[in-house]
Formats: sequence, C-alpha cells, structure tokens
Amino acid sequence: MTTEAEARPGRRLGSIIALACLMLVLVGIMVMIIWPRVVQTAVSPIGGPFTLTTQTGEKLSDADLQGKPFAIFFGFTRCPEVCPTTLWETTEALKSLGPDADKLRVLFVSVDPTRDTPEFMARYLQSFDKHITGLTGTEAEIADVGKEYRIYYEKVPTEDGDYTMNHTASIFLMDAQGQFAGTISYGEDMATRLQKLRRLIGTAT
Ligand code: NI
Repeated sequence: MTTEAEARPGRRLGSIIALACLMLVLVGIMVMIIWPRVVQTAVSPIGGPFTLTTQTGEKLSDADLQGKPFAIFFGFTRCPEVCPTTLWETTEALKSLGPDADKLRVLFVSVDPTRDTPEFMARYLQSFDKHITGLTGTEAEIADVGKEYRIYYEKVPTEDGDYTMNHTASIFLMDAQGQFAGTISYGEDMATRLQKLRRLIGTAT
C-alpha cells in the first residue's frame, strides 16, 4: 500500500513534466507565429503598390510607373534643410542628365499631407526640376506607402507650439519593373549620384 508521503514526489514529478510539456507547446506556438514574420521582414522587398495624388490633383499609382525607372523620396515642403537640399541636388543631377532625364521619374512624397495639399506642393515644386512629381494623400495612404518603403517619419512639436517632421532622407531607386535597385544617401557626392542614376536608366558607360 502506498502512503501519502511516498506518492507526493511522484505526483510532483508528474506535474513538472506536464508543465514542461505545456511550456514547450507554448514556445512552439510562439515560434510558429513569430518566425514567419521575422522571415517576411527579412525578405520583403522595398517598395509596393500605392495610389497617391500629384501636385496637379491627378491620381498616380505604382502601375502607372511600370516601364520607366523612378527615384522616390519622402519629406515635406516646410522642411528647413534636408528636403530643399535633396530637391536642389536632384535638380542639378537631372540637369546633368540632359535629355536622358526623360527616361526617369522622380517622386517626392509628403509625410506631412495635412499641410502639403496638391496646390501647396505645386507652388513649392516650381523652384525645382519639372521631372519631379510631388505626391500627397491621406494620412493612411502616406502611412501605407511609408511602410512599404520602410521609411521613418515622425511629427515633432516645436517650442513655438508648431511642429516639424523628422524623416528618412534617402532616395530609393526603383527599376522599370518597380523593383528596388538601390539608394542615394543624403549628402552623397554628385559624381556617385549621377553614376547611380545613369545605371538606373541604363545609360551608364
Ligand atoms: Ni525633409
């Protein structure tokens, strides 16, 4: 006959094994849920479908861009430095490309769509090359396209009660099939910039 005292260690071992099994099952489930996301994040390409509004109020989607490479970057018209510099340097690069600039589209997407209406974008872009298309949209549309290009942007309050935007400064280069083909970083020298653009449009020597 088994006494109460003898049975207890066995019962305890049983519950430890049961707990260990339960833990294993839980860890297994978590790995099954999390791992595909990790893999997806690692391999998911930069870029994706979007439909936004140009500075002339027309809709422009990724499908409209098929067959022609494009350079895309994100910013806002009230940007004090990074955006005007990028737009100015891009304008200079497009000038250097000459007639070949027609083989490329350049898209400037606003991360401050509340203020950057198509009209405001149109006025702002008058100072830069005509190959540059301004794009804006709803907050949700901008959030979606931002996610696809894995950019960072954030509204930052300023001391005077206004706000500014922090944002990724890189230019993304996309080929004629809409596939990611590289980046131009902020402040990259003009020779490298031009070489990358020429490679993108297939006129590199
Ligand atoms: Ni900016």
